[in-house]
Parts: sequence; C-alpha cells; structure tokens
Amino acid sequence: MKEKYIVVKKSDPLQGSLAVPGSKNAVLGLLAAALMTDEDVKIENIPQILDVKVLCEIVADIGVDVHETDHQLIFNAKNIKHAELNTALTSKFRASYYFIGALISKYKKVKIGYPGGDDFGSRPIDQHEKGLTALGATFNYYKDYYTVEAERLKGADIYFDVITSGATINVMLASVFAEGKTTLTNAARDPEVVDVANLLNKMGANIRGAGTSKIIIHGVNTLKGCDYQTIPDRLIAGTFLIAAGVTGGQVTVRDVIPEHLTSLLEKLTEMGMTFEVGNNSITAYGDHNLKATRVKTGMYPLFATDLQQPLTSLMLKASGKSIVTDPIFPNRFRHIHQLSKLGAVIEKRKASVFIPGNQKLKGARVEALDVRAGSSLILAGLMAEGTTIITDIDHILRGYENVTSLFAKLGADITLENGSADKSLHHVSKII
Ligand code: EPU
Repeated sequence: MKEKYIVVKKSDPLQGSLAVPGSKNAVLGLLAAALMTDEDVKIENIPQILDVKVLCEIVADIGVDVHETDHQLIFNAKNIKHAELNTALTSKFRASYYFIGALISKYKKVKIGYPGGDDFGSRPIDQHEKGLTALGATFNYYKDYYTVEAERLKGADIYFDVITSGATINVMLASVFAEGKTTLTNAARDPEVVDVANLLNKMGANIRGAGTSKIIIHGVNTLKGCDYQTIPDRLIAGTFLIAAGVTGGQVTVRDVIPEHLTSLLEKLTEMGMTFEVGNNSITAYGDHNLKATRVKTGMYPLFATDLQQPLTSLMLKASGKSIVTDPIFPNRFRHIHQLSKLGAVIEKRKASVFIPGNQKLKGARVEALDVRAGSSLILAGLMAEGTTIITDIDHILRGYENVTSLFAKLGADITLENGSADKSLHHVSKII
C-alpha cells in the first residue's frame, strides 16, 4: 500500500460551513449492537473511516451480510457461524471489545484480539471484565487473544470503580439478553452511550437511564431490526470550532447537537472566542485576541480528553500561559514532542502540560501518533510559517472522514498526498 501523508501550509482565516459526519465512537457501538438480531439493521450517517472498514471486514468474516451504500450500512447477522473473531483485525481498533457484549449471550464464547487503537500508555479493561464477570462470564487470556465464555448471563448490580464509556457500553450490550434486571451504577453519561441505548431500545431492548449515572436494563429474549441515524461526531465538530480560533476565521458546523459541545464552548469563550448557537449548528468566530486558560479533562459532561490535544494548538497562540491536565489519560501527550518540532515550547510535568502563549511556529515534518494528536498537528500546521508535512496519518484517517477535503473547503491550504513524504520534504526544505 502506498504511503499517505498530509501537506498543510500556513492558511488564511478559514471561512464557511461543513456538515459534521456521524460519530466514530458511537458508530462502533451501534454496529456491534446491530449484530444482536437476525433481522436487518440499517445504520445511517456512517462515517467513512478506517475503523468502520476494519469492523465490516471482521463481521463479514464471521458470516454477517454487510450491505454498504452512501454513508449507510445494513447488517444482517442471521448467518453468523461463530464468534471466533479475526484476532489481528480485532486488535486494530479499541472498541472491538463491543463484540463481546453483543455476541456473548447467543454464541456463549467470543474469541477476540486484544484491544488496539491509540496508545496512551495504560488502557485497562478491568471494568469490562468486572461487569461481564458479574453477569456470569469468564475471561481467559492468551498470548495474542483472549476469550470470554458464558453458558448464560444473569442480571446483576454492577458498580463501576471508574467512569468508563467503553465498559458502560460493553456491559450494557451484554445485559440486554441477561436474565432479569441489571443495574449499572457510576455509568458513563456520554452521548455515545445514550446513542447505543437508543438503538437497542428501538430494536426492542428495555434500557432506562442512559445519559445518567444509573442505567437499568431488564433482559429481553429477542431484538428486531430497525433503521437508525448515528449522532454527529462532537469531536470532529469541536476540532473545526477550534480551527476557527487557530486561523482567526469563521466556521459553522452543521448537523451537530450543540449540547454535546457545552464544555468546549465554555472554554473557548473563556479564551475569547465568540459563538452563535442554533438548534443544530454552531458558528465560531475566531477573529479575536485570545487569552490563556486552564483545562482539566473529565468524563462527559466535563471537558473531553479527546479535545485537549487540538485545544493545545490553539493555546499556543493565546496570550499568557495555559495549562492542560489530563487525568483521564495522563500519557495522552504524544503530540507535544511533535509540536516542539514546529518550534513550540511546551513543558510537561506528570499529567499536565504548560503552554506559554504567543508562540511562532515554523513548518516541519511531524508524525501523527494518534488520532487527535494528528488533528492538533493539522491545526498547528495551519498557523506555522511555511509547510508542515504530517506522516503516519492512518491514525487520523481512523477517525476523520475526508479530513483534508473538509479543511480545504473552508479555505485551508492542505492536501492529502500519496507516496513517500521524503520526496516532498526534500522539495519543501528548498522553499522554507
Ligand atoms: N478505564 C479503566 N478500566 C477500564 C476501562 C477504562 O480504568 O476497564 C479508564 C481509562 O483508563 C480512562 C477512563 O477509564 O482513564 C475512561 O476510559 P473509557 O473506557 O471511557 O475510554 P475508552 O472506551 O477506552 C473511549 C473513546 C476514546 C475516548 C475515551 C474517553 C472509543 C472507541 N474510544 O475510549 O476515543 O478518548 O472513550 O472519552 O469510543 C478518540 O476518539 O480519539 C478516542 C481515543
């Protein structure tokens, strides 16, 4: 396969509007849920991203009939042969563990590769194990895969020791067919949890309380097919709102649920940006002098860890010293070293970074080491003098559909290139 890379140059203020695609993190749960009935489930507003492509390959491999049209997927799971999943493919993304919750009741045993996805250091699955074990499942760990087995699942009272969206969704999926009542306490309140619960309820499940910290599930025997529309991706919307600030432009994100972006809008307002919030759109005005701020990540509705990386790029141009602390993923700072290649001076201490403002960046070659690190580099590249070349962009493509076209449509000087970035770098070094 040919190498792909992104070339981004210092750009004029971004201007215009874009329709925000469906949420990556929701759709991975929705597509797993779609395997829980023998009838057709049509999911709309599917983002065209690598994680979805891999997920489709995995389910096709176990016998799911996958029908893809423009931003829609129809899954029919009636011919699933077994739940022994391709271990290499399931290790390519994090949320493959949702297959456990979705398939364990019917197939009794799920074999699966260890969760992949972004490397933020430690990303345990102990709360998944705790919840599923309470329902009656047994985990066995091997070198390249693990198995989860259960003869039958029985409802239980489950308290999550940490708030986790992944474990909340996974255990909720498994509880749908568990006998009796399951109560999830200290559940994640994320919109993606609510989206999966809404689909399951539309399919005939009995789930109450999703969106609060207590979710109650009464087990049912079967689910039916339906059509369902994925929620918009709050993280993509957030990235483009920040881009308005980075370039001093005006960007409207359409087809969004503004409430999902409340904590980001509060922080950007503190920094000096202004917004016009409609029913399902937000316009960001970035043509103001920006001030430093402090951000501490937390689980929804607190400030999303996924948005601290793009926000860091904006902080580089604010006046004063900003601080980002990420207790959710204390090692989610791999973008910092890359930003330093562009000339940024950022100090990291434990789970915090200290970002002096008014910094001047200069284009260079950088690596997108995880999905949001990648988006922070695109944003920094829009401000940096000259040309920035971003390699390892598969991480970005895992989460952002048509990312370069969306930015280019707003006036960014950005292209997606095929081939070796070395050649381009040689050319660039002559220009900058
Ligand atoms: N945690 C545990 N034990 C567990 C599970 C999680 O201690 O069994 C901890 C984590 O270490 C973390 C916190 O709980 O400190 C929250 O983790 P969560 O389970 O919510 O994260 P995740 O499900 O692994 C999802 C998203 C991430 C997003 C986080 C936090 C997907 C596929 N991934 O990960 O998205 O950062 O929630 O909101 O839904 C991204 O899209 O860029 C991305 C990485």
